[in-house]
Amino acid sequence: MLTVIRLTLNQESALYGVQEFPVLGWEIASHNRNVRQTAYRIQISQDQGFDKILFRGEWQDSEYSNNVTLNEFTLISSQHYFIRVQIRDNYGDTSAWSSPAEMISGVLYPREWLADFITVETPADKDNSRATLLRKSFVLNRAADIQSAFIHVSALGLYECHLNGCKVGEDSLTPGWTSYHNHLLYQTYEVTGHLKKGENVLGAILGAGWYKGDMGFSRHRNYYGERSALISQLMINYKDGSREIVVSDESWKGYDSAILFSEIYDGEIYDARRETPGWCAQGFAEDGWRPVSVVAHEKSTLVAQGSNTVRKMGEIKPVALITTPQGDTVIDFGQNLSGWVAFRASGKAGDKVVLRHFEVLDAQGNVYLDNLRTARQRTEYVLKGEAEETWHPHFTWQGFRFVKVEQYPAPLDLNNFTAIVLHSSMEQTGHFACSDPALNQLHHNILWGLKGNFVDVPTDCPQRDERLGWTGDAQIFCRTASYLMQTRNFFAKWLTDLRYDQTPEGGVPHVVPDILTGYCGKDRLLSEGGTHSASAWADAAVINPWTMYLMYGDTQVLENQYASMKGWIDFMTVHAENHLWHYKLQFGDWVALDAKEGSYFGATPDDLTCTAYYAYSTQLFAKAAKALNRTEDYQHYDALHQAIVRRFQEEFFTPSGRLAARTQTAHILALYFNLVPDAFRQRTTDTLVELLNEHDGHLVTGFVGTPYFCHALSQNGRNKEAWSLLLKDDFPSWLYQVKAGATTVWEHWDGIKPDGSMWSADMNSFNHYAYGAVGEWLYRVAAGIEADEEQPGFKHAIIRPQTGGGLSWLDTRYQSIYGAIGVRWEVNGQKVKLCVCIPANTSATLILTDGQHVEAADGIDFVRCTDGYTAEVGSGEYRIEYRLV
Ligand code: BGC
Repeated sequence: MLTVIRLTLNQESALYGVQEFPVLGWEIASHNRNVRQTAYRIQISQDQGFDKILFRGEWQDSEYSNNVTLNEFTLISSQHYFIRVQIRDNYGDTSAWSSPAEMISGVLYPREWLADFITVETPADKDNSRATLLRKSFVLNRAADIQSAFIHVSALGLYECHLNGCKVGEDSLTPGWTSYHNHLLYQTYEVTGHLKKGENVLGAILGAGWYKGDMGFSRHRNYYGERSALISQLMINYKDGSREIVVSDESWKGYDSAILFSEIYDGEIYDARRETPGWCAQGFAEDGWRPVSVVAHEKSTLVAQGSNTVRKMGEIKPVALITTPQGDTVIDFGQNLSGWVAFRASGKAGDKVVLRHFEVLDAQGNVYLDNLRTARQRTEYVLKGEAEETWHPHFTWQGFRFVKVEQYPAPLDLNNFTAIVLHSSMEQTGHFACSDPALNQLHHNILWGLKGNFVDVPTDCPQRDERLGWTGDAQIFCRTASYLMQTRNFFAKWLTDLRYDQTPEGGVPHVVPDILTGYCGKDRLLSEGGTHSASAWADAAVINPWTMYLMYGDTQVLENQYASMKGWIDFMTVHAENHLWHYKLQFGDWVALDAKEGSYFGATPDDLTCTAYYAYSTQLFAKAAKALNRTEDYQHYDALHQAIVRRFQEEFFTPSGRLAARTQTAHILALYFNLVPDAFRQRTTDTLVELLNEHDGHLVTGFVGTPYFCHALSQNGRNKEAWSLLLKDDFPSWLYQVKAGATTVWEHWDGIKPDGSMWSADMNSFNHYAYGAVGEWLYRVAAGIEADEEQPGFKHAIIRPQTGGGLSWLDTRYQSIYGAIGVRWEVNGQKVKLCVCIPANTSATLILTDGQHVEAADGIDFVRCTDGYTAEVGSGEYRIEYRLV
């Protein structure tokens, strides 16, 4: 039977708030093998039952079942839409209609924003971190005639929206962090069932957040503005086609909230005695409430978010209650995470609960706060004296595994505490398990590194006074992240901000959104070296959109970023001398172990790193130009790429093939970026292995070399060395951290040294995903699920598992946009059992690396190739058995 099992909109199951028509995709299931779609048709309706059909698409002869665009349908603002698809395949089967996917349109044109940004804050509140309340009472006479009602809401600062006494939606930290003056997201919620006849009340709580809060390691406030403000537009559609709109304007009133203080890094202080009961309910007297004023902000910056809002993604109960040698009471949640501690407490009015959140205990088992630097990560709740009070913070989050309980009004009962895991909501797409528990834990740590750091922007770390969208970290980790989770919209959003925050010349900020430029006076490196355009960091401008294209086959992100990508390449070209690129401040092979004692800068020379990335990004940009049919650009940048490679080879290779910099990272980059003359490939690989052996098989690489180390080996016939590097478990290595009890990935190989002492507290995060970039090797090489750039998005995949490491089995599933690609292998001596699953309407090249003899081919015609055996396969599940060389 042919079935459409899932229809997606911009790769999401539903979109609440769209600015323009999304790309459509659908996952197909069939009992047949080699299933190819031959035609599809689409319908759009106003209702779920498809009684009020707005669009009846004709059958389209097409094999495309993803990234399908629909240009002939025009959206109108604030409407519900249901979309469904029906397909035919090469067996002549026709599916039933799919279950509908749902979306709500946003406010599509700036002129339709009738609401204003309003605030009750005055200029004197500039340095105030106290949250404020806003409310508006309004009367509905025709509630029974409401067809649908949607609220579109955003803020300068952070907001919680309330309606008739209840919080609207399940999101937190809205509207998220963007380059606010250029790009401000709003969220859309359906509130149809929540409106009633007579008086209704809309309310909002506003906090300082990223907008006006105290941010950055140099700590400065008000980067974007001095007053928090709300914009909200409630649009009510009546059954007779008429519409009523309730907007934020000067008729609203404002007041102080019980949140006395709330800051991203420092936490929150809440005095429950100062709550205003009923503030968002009917019949409330607005005594003492103050008038609001309108704040100017360009409404054309408003864009619907639609998906990936930050929300509660899980709950974790404590695993232990500890009394430290110093006598502190500490709750251990057993997992480093980003989020809140929610608790129950009872006591007298004025009693307090005070918590400090932190990541690790020190060598003596005491509370370790030093690596938080100036971030207080403290929450304080003052009880109002009710029988039982429950609470969690609002406009902040903490990065922690442990919580020091500084005050609690009763004996501690762990049942009263829960860690709420917060991150951008994304579908998990990567699943990995194998026979080695330590490697499973590493995968877990990488996944939790993502969870902890994809809090609206891809941050470097979630605990200290930083939590910034460092471009380098986001670049390094992008591919791994995109195996683990559906990141298309998350990165599309962030890349939009990257584009906005680029310098006019095309330079790319070190952090996006950029809050360092103009505000890093206290940091010597940045104030002298500038806040943009470091190799490997700025290359996020090119590598991340390209990765989106590879993983999701989506030309839209490439198209949107095209000018930004080009701007970055041209920036490097302008500042290059004879194709060697170097620019002011470089982070180089950041925190590599071959750095001089006490330095963060690894031993690989900057001009080599810079030129290597210049070549790589130029090559990717040329490919992007080709993918978008920009032939002239393709030819130009392809030629530029070749010229850079030639120059790299002249400059960094001796005539007999010695690479000038004798570091692991230099060799890794040269190999992985294809900068090595063919004649020297063997020697370069051998030297890399030599450099590995000089450290007894250990890496000494930093941010730049580490992500590609295993690839550089496995792509050059050194799969065995790649596996043994991955599986090293003494210092320094990935599994060293695992053995030390890590539950996320550390910033430094020596975050905690073998003797128990720590790397300097000035920069020692235990939740930094950068080194987790090895995760992609598990999917791309160990499982062998590799994208084919000729047919991206896994329309055609290259499945080439590389068994090894002494593992007896490995089981991986990657939920591609076409469906799950599964690879499971079992090794018994020389015998391999392989089970491969290829989604319908896709195909794959299957390669049995080191296969000597195929014993069970499951209907596949294998042919010999240099690697072993290969075959082209269509969709289906295959069970193969072969012998290794
Ligand atoms: C961050 C890094 C970042 C680096 C740049 C650090 O403070 O945590 O991850 O990439 O600065 O040098």
